Amino acid sequence: YGSGYDGGRGGYGDFPVVRPRRLRTTPAMRRMVAEHRLHPADLILPAFLREGITEPVEISSMPGVYQHTRETLRKAAAEAVAAGVGGIMIFGVPEEGKKDATGSCGTDPDGILQVALRDVRAEVGDDLVVMSDLCLDEFTDHGHCGVLDERGRVDNDATLERYAEMACVQAEAGAHVLGPSGMMDGQVAFVRRALDEAGHQDVAMLAYTAKYASAFYGPFREAVDSSLTGDRKAYQQDPANGREAMRELALDLAEGADMVMVKPALPYLDVLRRVADAVDVPVAAYQVSGEYAMVEAAAQRGWIERERAIMETLTGARRAGADMILTYWATEAARRLR
Ligand code: PBG
Repeated sequence: YGSGYDGGRGGYGDFPVVRPRRLRTTPAMRRMVAEHRLHPADLILPAFLREGITEPVEISSMPGVYQHTRETLRKAAAEAVAAGVGGIMIFGVPEEGKKDATGSCGTDPDGILQVALRDVRAEVGDDLVVMSDLCLDEFTDHGHCGVLDERGRVDNDATLERYAEMACVQAEAGAHVLGPSGMMDGQVAFVRRALDEAGHQDVAMLAYTAKYASAFYGPFREAVDSSLTGDRKAYQQDPANGREAMRELALDLAEGADMVMVKPALPYLDVLRRVADAVDVPVAAYQVSGEYAMVEAAAQRGWIERERAIMETLTGARRAGADMILTYWATEAARRLR
């Protein structure tokens, strides 16, 4: 509207007839006309179980987030259920001495992630969707998401075989949904086939479709005691590429993904929108550790309003097309939404 806009009734310089502010006058009015709404059931809590500790360990770069003991993980899962949270995504942190080149403890039926899955299923039954991270980086001594070839590069196809084995062990331990997060080519199809052959047709897959090589995973690497020295740029996506996410999306859907994900959330809302516009499966966004840390750190300094910032970032992901959001604030936000 240029300077000559007449509010829709002729004449120049009159006061406006059309007033968008009318719909912003009261909380009830704003609530009624809200285009997007967050609901506790759409939130998914990522949680860490660390092997061999007797007290939970707070992650210094993620104040309020803990490496859990078996007992406190069960408690966190029960609290999530009570708050109405939709799901939990579980990560296992093995004892340092148990990591090796192929990530053996990832496929050990008694490995820490499998222990976590059984514990959480025993606690919540089917009242919470129990998901597990399907990746090797927590379990390898070199910290990469797969096994390495003789030149030290991540070997895609050898890694697929490890994922297939891991998937069956996780399904056996009680996961409802597996989240393959390693960005190996063909991982969804390969894992799907292994699950089906083992009789796990009902176990669903949330594909990490567009997972970017992001600086915002920094605090997560502390959370899982990562051993990584290099980076993951040879398998995770380049932040410069949006169209490429659509190619990954087409592959994941063709390979049988039940749900798809964009990760991180805040720097990739445009990708989230593109993906959401293109699919008819549920779309998730992962608000990652660095997004959490950024808000918490600024809030601690009094530089932003913590709770408003949390709800605004969650709403932003929702508006950009996320049906579900993985967030370390899941239980807190769910309580606030009730
Ligand atoms: C890989 C994995 C990562 C995250 C979730 N799954 C780390 C990575 O790719 O380096 C990051 C989550 C976060 O930062 O909150 N297993």
